[in-house]
Amino acid sequence: MKTRSNIQASIGIFDSGVGGLTVFRRIEQALPRESLVYLGDTARVPYGSKSGATVVRYAKTCAKLLLQRDIKMLVVACNTASAYALDALRDNLDIPVIGVIEPGAKAACRHTQTGRVGVIGTRGTISTGSYEKIIRQLRPDCLVYSKACPLFVPFAEEGWTSGPAIHEIAETYLGDLLKNEIDTLVLGCTHYPLLSDVIAEVAGEAVTLVDSAGETARAVAATLEASGLVNTAVARGTLSFLVTDGHTHFREMGEQFLGHPLDTVEWVDVQEI
Ligand code: DGL
Repeated sequence: MKTRSNIQASIGIFDSGVGGLTVFRRIEQALPRESLVYLGDTARVPYGSKSGATVVRYAKTCAKLLLQRDIKMLVVACNTASAYALDALRDNLDIPVIGVIEPGAKAACRHTQTGRVGVIGTRGTISTGSYEKIIRQLRPDCLVYSKACPLFVPFAEEGWTSGPAIHEIAETYLGDLLKNEIDTLVLGCTHYPLLSDVIAEVAGEAVTLVDSAGETARAVAATLEASGLVNTAVARGTLSFLVTDGHTHFREMGEQFLGHPLDTVEWVDVQEI
């Protein structure tokens, strides 16, 4: 694979909405010298209930929008897009492309003691069986139990992260999964860490929640290193944000979650691509 030599170029990160900020935050913390440009495809969220062909098309347009910003690496901070579109993106792009499923699967294998792992995600991600495949490649002794939880994404996008409504939905989704005596639950959608308090409450103390964000940040650091793309030129990189729909709600949610102001949130026209 060819790589761009401009070490000062940004790392592009995308998701259907605010969920990928859970990955963005860990990359920002781990690699403060890198410039990051985040794209939330808010005009087309959710991805999780769309067909594979549609998600591949959406992912390709997100990549094109980010490539216009001259990125040196692409992080697919969306499990659904990683499940359906990672291979297509890697085939088409001449920069390193990192998804979130392999990192999440690795984290699960490291954490589980009993080898009984639950995976929750969008309908799309769960239907591909991607987590199960990778977890069982890494640890053939593992038993993997999966459940699609489609209503979690609109609650996370709304910032509705506690209260009786989401609690009841979590109980309904997780009830059968928890009967399998799992000790590790993979939050296989980047929106779900926003709901981790309620999910942890329902799952109980015996279950460790695992997500892809930390492991993905480590994979990004390792890939920058291996490709000679580490930005050694500046002390602090820039952070910018793009959305395909209005920016007010995204800005509010983003500032709340990241804990700092979002200086630029720019609308980009997904129709033009
Ligand atoms: N956050 C995304 C994921 O990890 C997509 C959620 C959605 O748009 O349905 O799958």
